[in-house]
Amino acid sequence: MNDWSGGGEKAAGAAIYALELRSEADTVRLAEKLAGLCAPGVLIALDGDLGAGKTRFAKAFAAGLHVPGLVNSPTFTIIKEYEGGRLPLYHMDVYRLTIEEADELGLEEYFEGDGVSLVEWASQIEPLLPPERLHIRLELTGAESRLAVIRPRGARYDAWCQALGLRAAEGEGSGDDANR
Ligand SMILES: Nc1ncnc2c1ncn2[C@@H]1O[C@H](COP(=O)(O)OP(=O)(O)O)[C@@H](O)[C@H]1O
Ligand SMILES: [Mg+2]
Repeated sequence: MNDWSGGGEKAAGAAIYALELRSEADTVRLAEKLAGLCAPGVLIALDGDLGAGKTRFAKAFAAGLHVPGLVNSPTFTIIKEYEGGRLPLYHMDVYRLTIEEADELGLEEYFEGDGVSLVEWASQIEPLLPPERLHIRLELTGAESRLAVIRPRGARYDAWCQALGLRAAEGEGSGDDANR
């Protein structure tokens, strides 16, 4: 079971930022920058259609953490742990999971662990996510271009967005309709 739900949903996470990624290199740069900011307990919640670049982002993020070796899509394994980098990386792909199945995996062990968690298709298990996390939704806008819609939840991630100098997304509002 998890006890993350409720509390602070409105207060935190009202801000929405948008970042245009004109090429794969821009995606790599964003992921590497974020990896550089990471400390234990960080959670990056990734969303976006198939082919949007979630796994590409994860590979660059892993490189930014100096994780050795090849980082692949964990679609079939659901969770892959990578040691040997600046911090352990827990790379998850929850696309195939129901909430009940995800709940039984005990993901909070990872979220509360010494490493950094990166979850592809995170909105699928939204109720199981801890309240503090950085949401990134990658939207396909062209063959090589993407729009990253970034929503910080919690002071740590607010500070990250400030540090990155991100611009507020158009139509930023109450922040309660930002999941999709
Ligand atoms: N700006 C970009 N950002 C990320 N990937 C890009 C970009 N432009 C092209 N691509 C390509 O899009 C594909 C994204 O695939 P992948 O990362 O596996 O998507 P997902 O995990 O979201 O299904 C890769 O082949 C990558 O080379
Ligand atoms: Mg993927």
